[in-house]
Amino acid sequence: MDPTRAPLLCRLLLTVCWVVAAGKAAGAKVLPPPSNLDYSFIQICTLNWTWNPPENISSSCDLEYSSDIVIDEVPQGKREWSKSRFRVTDTFLDEEMRFKVRSECKHDNSSEPSRWVETSLLPKGIPGTAAVDLSCVWHNLEYMVCMWRPGQNASSDTNYTLSYWFDGLKNHKKCNNCSVDQGVFRCVFNLSFPKVTNTYPPISILIRDDSEEIRPVCASKNPTTLVKPATPRRVTLSKTNDEIYVEWSESDTFPENCLYYEVKYHNGDLDSAQIIKVENNYTSIPGVDPNSKYIFKVRAKPKPECYSSKLYSDWSEEKSIGEKTDSTFYFVIIITVPIIVAISMTILLVYLKRLKILILPPIPDPREILKRMFGEQNEDSQICEKDDSVHAYDKFIKEEEIHSLILTETPEYVNSEKENR
Ligand SMILES: *[C@@H]1O[C@H](CO)[C@@H](O)[C@H](O)[C@H]1NC(C)=O
Ligand SMILES: *[C@@H]1O[C@H](CO)[C@@H](O)[C@H](O)[C@H]1NC(C)=O
Ligand SMILES: *[C@@H]1O[C@H](CO)[C@@H](O)[C@H](O)[C@H]1NC(C)=O
Ligand SMILES: *[C@@H]1O[C@H](CO)[C@@H](O)[C@H](O)[C@H]1NC(C)=O
Ligand SMILES: *[C@@H]1O[C@H](CO)[C@@H](O)[C@H](O)[C@H]1NC(C)=O
Ligand SMILES: *[C@@H]1O[C@H](CO)[C@@H](O)[C@H](O)[C@H]1NC(C)=O
Ligand SMILES: *[C@@H]1O[C@H](CO)[C@@H](O)[C@H](O)[C@H]1NC(C)=O
Repeated sequence: MDPTRAPLLCRLLLTVCWVVAAGKAAGAKVLPPPSNLDYSFIQICTLNWTWNPPENISSSCDLEYSSDIVIDEVPQGKREWSKSRFRVTDTFLDEEMRFKVRSECKHDNSSEPSRWVETSLLPKGIPGTAAVDLSCVWHNLEYMVCMWRPGQNASSDTNYTLSYWFDGLKNHKKCNNCSVDQGVFRCVFNLSFPKVTNTYPPISILIRDDSEEIRPVCASKNPTTLVKPATPRRVTLSKTNDEIYVEWSESDTFPENCLYYEVKYHNGDLDSAQIIKVENNYTSIPGVDPNSKYIFKVRAKPKPECYSSKLYSDWSEEKSIGEKTDSTFYFVIIITVPIIVAISMTILLVYLKRLKILILPPIPDPREILKRMFGEQNEDSQICEKDDSVHAYDKFIKEEEIHSLILTETPEYVNSEKENR
């Protein structure tokens, strides 16, 4: 490029830029921002963020406030526009929460939105001391059971307490029925709404400790996702011909048609278990084997039309009906098999003993043979003589044994020969 031309190009570009900037400044006036941004707790886990309006806004401006939330530097995508000078939000307390707001003139391209005004809520206490793994289950629309574990950096004797609040409750309540088992905290509180209610408010839960060092933590729970029905009770079975009729009690805390049931049954072997889904509190199973014993259990699950919970009740206790043929059969086998085995073992042992004596006659002592062969008599004739007499006696007894055996054997042989004839 020609060096003499460069300044000219620069000046040209600068002029363009200046013109654009001037045009923008002339057309779009930057609005003043809101002032005095502040917050206050209106419930255990609910904040009211408030601010004052900007000054000198022209009457032609249709003023609105845009606000947004950033948690631990992560934008939450919860941008909102409103004309009111406050915004109510949930808070979690265990993370840094930043709130920002600016003023805008709606339907007006002659003014630019103001800069953002921010304020933040910093977590209190030592990092890693907040309760973790909070989970809650709403049992039978009657009571809530919440469980959690202490934070990694919390001392083992931390006395966490749980408080809860929901829209409709004037003040928050403290959960008093708490216990700790193997490092797991558990707290139970009553929670019920009129039976006609079909929407439930979110439940705010705060877990904290009186000590300043323990970091508090908030959670918001949607109760409809936590519904767990009570276990069906009073399961009764009756049998007519080849049909079994099953009935069980209904929970009286649930509205009509908000539960369905699973009936699981099997006869004898567990692999053949069947599950059927039932809408009522009874059902009948046709075509059953009249000679089999059937075992039943029932559990309940909320219908998705009523609750978005995926939790089943526990299975009811097992009930059975029918002949106990199977178990008596097994009983007979368990008793008879060992007896048969024991008897045949005894017979076999007796037989083997006889056989051994017949096949393997007593083995002569090799030392004796050697002694005789090499004529050790000259060592001590008296002892040898004694030895010899002892051996002779032994030999005599053994021979007699064999003889007696042969003798006892013979009659049988004779008998069988007789039979054969
Ligand atoms: C939040 O605070 C403002 C100003 O004090 C008040 O007008 C508003 O009613 C409060 N909002 C709630 C939900 O309490
Ligand atoms: C608002 O306008 C008045 C007069 O129009 C002026 O005196 C005042 O300084 C302005 N305030 C601000 C903050 O611009
Ligand atoms: C704002 O922009 C719209 C088109 O986007 C235009 O019709 C209107 O005249 C503009 N108003 C001003 C005040 O510039
Ligand atoms: C526990 O405390 C240590 C030291 O203060 C810190 O480095 C660690 O991140 C904490 N643990 C958690 C889970 O925050
Ligand atoms: C928890 O409570 C018990 C009994 O009230 C007390 O002895 C213990 O020091 C407390 N733990 C903490 C960490 O304050
Ligand atoms: C505490 O909860 C248990 C169930 O976990 C319940 O049996 C007991 O009656 C409750 N105690 C009180 C005082 O509410
Ligand atoms: C089944 O439901 C009916 C009607 O709700 C009730 O009258 C009956 O007692 C229930 N059966 C059992 C075993 O509770």
